[in-house]
Amino acid sequence: MHASTSTRRILVTGATGTLGRHVIAALEDQPGVGARILSRRERPAVIATGREWVRADLATDSLDAALEDVDGVIHLASDKGSGEADVIGTRRLLAAAEGAGARHVVVISIIGCDRIPLPFYASKVRIEALTRASAIPWTIARVAQFHSFVERLVAAPAALPIPAPIVADLRFQPVDEREVADRLVEIALGTPLGDAPEIAGPEVLTLGEIATTWLAESGRPGTLVPVALDTIAPGSAGLPTIAPWVPGTLEGYRSGANTPHGDRTLGHVRFVDWLRQRRAAGSA
Ligand SMILES: NC(=O)c1ccc[n+]([C@@H]2O[C@H](COP(=O)([O-])OP(=O)(O)OC[C@H]3O[C@@H](n4cnc5c(N)ncnc54)[C@H](OP(=O)(O)O)[C@@H]3O)[C@@H](O)[C@H]2O)c1
Repeated sequence: MHASTSTRRILVTGATGTLGRHVIAALEDQPGVGARILSRRERPAVIATGREWVRADLATDSLDAALEDVDGVIHLASDKGSGEADVIGTRRLLAAAEGAGARHVVVISIIGCDRIPLPFYASKVRIEALTRASAIPWTIARVAQFHSFVERLVAAPAALPIPAPIVADLRFQPVDEREVADRLVEIALGTPLGDAPEIAGPEVLTLGEIATTWLAESGRPGTLVPVALDTIAPGSAGLPTIAPWVPGTLEGYRSGANTPHGDRTLGHVRFVDWLRQRRAAGSA
């Protein structure tokens, strides 16, 4: 571990991930705040001054060193999959944070995780329950899909060598990861909120609209065939075996269960802005 003179130390799990990298950058913009990265990977030979790195697997390793002298925790880690390892890792992290006397734990979750029957979302519901039962002051921040996530929903089928169908009427309110990071850091350095206002982007878009924007902005070749959910629902199209949670999940996205329904904090960067900013950064 690398010693730091910072006055407030925040441990970030998932710090090497898509969102986590922005959280670390946002923390390092704050005076008097130090960021400690938790990762299963070995510490790189060279890391930024003041940054700390602890190698640990949340599900299996001792977390004592990771929590030592930590003021707050921002918990983002997820190895996806079934989510079972995430639940185990969160239980262990909360116990270690409690033992170490951490003052605030901020746990990310997903908007609609309790309304959409994806198995992975069920693990988020369990993680939320563990957090609410914790003795550490907590904040749960439910977040909408990131711009990078919805981009993958159209970029992957567009890369196929044949015209690929997309369910055009699924709805998203995607958000810029950098805006999520800024908000999570603001929350982590403030008073614990319990259930925080949900975090989403500035506009609701269908997957069809996302595809049209992405194809126009990216200039990539690819043919996406928009189909409506009704035309592919089991029964109407006679689809063969389908996992029992698929229809409810598609219906959940179509009905906007993954968009904010109560108090919310909205970002300003639209999907098209995000694509253009990335292109500008790439050509700078
Ligand atoms: N993608 C979205 O649209 C979206 C929307 C809302 C909420 N979220 C949530 O936001 C969080 C971050 O998502 P992301 O897309 O940034 O994730 P990501 O890029 O897939 O990164 C996952 C991170 O989790 C860490 N990790 C996984 N298993 C671990 C374990 N057992 N022990 C320690 N670290 C572990 C990885 O670290 P190492 O590989 O370095 O160990 C990595 O930094 C997740 O909880 C996700 O569910 C995502």
